Order: sequence, then structure tokens, then C-alpha cells
Amino acid sequence: MLHLLPLTTLLLLASASLSPYPQEPGPLPLIIWHGLGDNYAADGLAEVGELAIETNPGTFVYNIRLSEDASSDRTATFFGNVTTQIARVCEDIASHPILSTAPALNALGFSQGGQFLRGYIERCNNPPIRNLVTFGSQHNGIAKYQGCGATDWLCKGAMALLRMNTWSDYIQSHLVPAQYYRSTNATTGEPTEEYLEHSNFLADINNERALKNKTYAKNLAKLDKLVMYLFEDDTTVIPKETGWFAQTNIETGEVTELRDRTIYKEDWIGLKELDKKGGLEFKATEGGHMQLSDKVLVDVFKTYFSPAEESWHGALNEGQEIVEL
Ligand SMILES: *[C@@H]1O[C@H](CO)[C@@H](O)[C@H](O)[C@H]1NC(C)=O
Ligand SMILES: *[C@@H]1O[C@H](CO)[C@@H](O)[C@H](O)[C@H]1NC(C)=O
Ligand SMILES: *[C@@H]1O[C@H](CO)[C@@H](O)[C@H](O)[C@H]1NC(C)=O
Repeated sequence: MLHLLPLTTLLLLASASLSPYPQEPGPLPLIIWHGLGDNYAADGLAEVGELAIETNPGTFVYNIRLSEDASSDRTATFFGNVTTQIARVCEDIASHPILSTAPALNALGFSQGGQFLRGYIERCNNPPIRNLVTFGSQHNGIAKYQGCGATDWLCKGAMALLRMNTWSDYIQSHLVPAQYYRSTNATTGEPTEEYLEHSNFLADINNERALKNKTYAKNLAKLDKLVMYLFEDDTTVIPKETGWFAQTNIETGEVTELRDRTIYKEDWIGLKELDKKGGLEFKATEGGHMQLSDKVLVDVFKTYFSPAEESWHGALNEGQEIVEL
């Protein structure tokens, strides 16, 4: 016997098959930006990617790189102009055959990779990032340069140059950590004039100068979530509270939490707006800098990067909804 379906049902069936996105929600692609001294092809990073795929099968993982040559990619974590580097990554992602077709991406930033991914979001965000998770990142800069391994001559060379004159244009356009170094007044804990004037990356991306870039705030507030992990026993990153976007007075040790800072209160970069919609999370994990356990990573992948949280449909931005017939 023939079932006669009402006309509306037939129309719904027809429109469903016309949808340009997969019918089954799948995980969004995941981009990972590694830290200082690491490279995109490193074993450790590959293991993180494998874990992401194991947790959320079908995830397309892309490790951000500044060169296909792993050794040059590592060099670029020490040397280069961060403005140019981020522009290059923006181009690579926007023209990538798979990433560029996704309605949104998830992002994972390790150490300096975390603030650089924030740079991607604020300056480009094409395709847009849905959730950004950072581990031990220097969102509010560093007050000291880190030490190097005993035989890491590349690192030692970079650090020697850094200490010469952080605020010269040469150093600011060639030495990566100098571009998120933030000097503060010992009495007030506030940034120095030199920093505000010469910082090539951080002062700009944090909208600390008089002239604010509204696009930065608009783009960052579009995130669903910014999740910042801090390593409880971090002694590499000074001050470690930079991982939570807090400001630490290096002399007195006094910490001003993000929510008590002007950058938040006046919403220079959209963090307050993001917080108001429940999109800002502060997390801590045991151990020193980048001592990551599989358990923490799996937890992050399940909570923030799983298709249950985000479907291809759900990932669309305002004005991009699929209009059902
Ligand atoms: C603000 O940032 C956007 C994105 O990078 C850029 O296109 C624009 O020129 C900037 N605006 C100002 C006033 O600097
Ligand atoms: C870094 O590169 C950008 C873009 O090419 C350039 O405008 C800027 O002047 C450079 N920064 C420094 C400190 O030279
Ligand atoms: C630090 O700030 C105080 C108070 O504004 C000021 O008097 C002092 O000159 C500043 N110190 C430096 C080194 O700029």
C-alpha cells in the first residue's frame, strides 16, 4: 500500500538533500601552532595529532609551519618578523585545499603559538576559529627571556642578541621572543613607554596603544570559547600568570587578574564581550612548562573539539546560516 506523505514533508526531504554540508555533523579541522624551539614535524606534535584523531575520529589535523623544511620551521620560532609570519600563516590557511573549505576551525596553541593564533584570529580569521585553547601562552608577554638547552646554539644565539637591545627596530623585526617581551614600570607595574612605542607584535595585538583596532575586538569576541591553560609550576615563562592574561608586578609579585585590568574593563580586544557570553575559561594544570599529559589533552579534545560540541552546521557565523526551504 502506498503511503501518501503530506506535501510539506516532501519539501523538507528535498531540501535536506540539497544542503551543501555533510548530513552527519563531523569534527571541525584542528590547527595546531607549536612553541619556541619546536617544529611542525616533531614526533611530540604528531602524537598530539594522533590523540586528537583517536578522540574525535575524522578530525583533519594541520600543524602550522613557516617552512616545509622542519629545521627552517624551527629557526622561524626564534628568528623572523611576527607580523610577516602571521600574514604568511593567514595566506596558507585561507588557500589550503581542505582548511579553506571548512566553515570554521578549532585551534590549539602551545606556548608562543597560543598568542600567535590569537593574532591569526584578530587579524585574519578566515576561516574563522570556533574554539581556541592555549597552553602556557604569553598572552600578556614575558618579563624575562628563557634559558636554553646546553647545546642549543640556535637558541643561545637568539637569546644573546635579544639581550643587546630589545627595543631596536632590528631586534623587533628579527627576534621572535622580543616581539612579545613586555617591560613594565617597577613602581606601577604598568607597561613602559618603550614597549608601547616599539613592540612589533604584543602591544599591537593587545590594542595597548591609544589607537585601537576595532576589528581585533570584533574578531576575538566571535569565538565560542577562549580557554587558557596555565602550568602551575611553570618556571620557564616569567611571569607564569601571563598564561591567564594577568599582569604581574615583577618587583612586588602582585598579580592583577585579567578581569581587573583596563584591557578587559574597556574591552580593548573583545575579551569582556566573550566573557559575558560564557566564552572565557581559565584552567590550570599540574607541572612545569609544557608538561602535558595525555589525560589533559584528551579532556580538551572531548570538551572543546568534539563534534557533539560543534557540528558543521553549528559552526556557521552570523549571516552564513543555511536557510532551509
Ligand atoms: C585593523 O586590523 C585589520 C586586520 O588586520 C586591518 O585590515 C586594518 O587595516 C587595521 N586597521 C587599522 C586602523 O590599523
Ligand atoms: C615587520 O613586518 C611588517 C610587515 O612587513 C612591517 O610593516 C614592519 O615594519 C616590520 N617590523 C619592523 C619592526 O621592522
Ligand atoms: C615609574 O612610574 C612612576 C610613577 O608614575 C614614575 O615616577 C617613575 O619615573 C617611573 N619609572 C620609570 C623608570 O619610568
